[in-house]
Amino acid sequence: MIRGDSSDYELLDKWTKNFDCNGYKTCEIGVREGLGSKIIMDNVVNNYIHVGVDPYGNLEYQHYDNTGAYTCDYTDEMRDTMLKDFLPYRNQGKFTLCNMTDTQFMNDSEHRHSKFAFVHFDGPHMTKDVMTEAIWFANRSVNGTRFVFDDYTKYRMPMIAQVLSLYGFEVKDQGTNKCVMEKVK
Ligand SMILES: C[S@@+](CC[C@H](N)C(=O)[O-])C[C@H]1O[C@@H](n2cnc3c(N)ncnc32)[C@H](O)[C@@H]1O
Repeated sequence: MIRGDSSDYELLDKWTKNFDCNGYKTCEIGVREGLGSKIIMDNVVNNYIHVGVDPYGNLEYQHYDNTGAYTCDYTDEMRDTMLKDFLPYRNQGKFTLCNMTDTQFMNDSEHRHSKFAFVHFDGPHMTKDVMTEAIWFANRSVNGTRFVFDDYTKYRMPMIAQVLSLYGFEVKDQGTNKCVMEKVK
């Protein structure tokens, strides 16, 4: 059973349904058990591959701007279950896991030379982390690229949206938990 830990998955469903990736990649930062990635992979069309980025390892880290550091349930056992659940997608070449942090991914990954059609931001929820990710992916976006931010009320989303407007992104939809932006120019 592939579960999620948030809400507004119907928003993710709506903005990925038959979304044409034009051969570019999709990505989810923060995979956990995999519901976000499953929705993306099941819905988009013409996707090169979906990249999940998650270190697992039950890391202790600061989750929000105003909290201390603590661990959750993001264990390596959870990763192994997710990998088993995603075996059909992996066998079809639709999914690859970058078992690393967002920072490692942005610095080291082979994917740094790629373009992305769709990104779900659901890893660290501190403003500085989401901002860094957003700019990194904005520099690897194309016309029509969609970004979905989970838990957007927990960080300084207006500031992130303002920076992304410089890259041609506009807010397209908002739920209680997720905010959708699209590159329109
Ligand atoms: C809120 S959960 C993701 C939920 C998932 N997207 C879903 O829809 O069910 C957050 C995930 O972010 C991962 N994470 C924590 N720090 C991270 C980092 N620096 N880079 C990438 N992922 C990170 C955690 O291991 C955890 O699996």
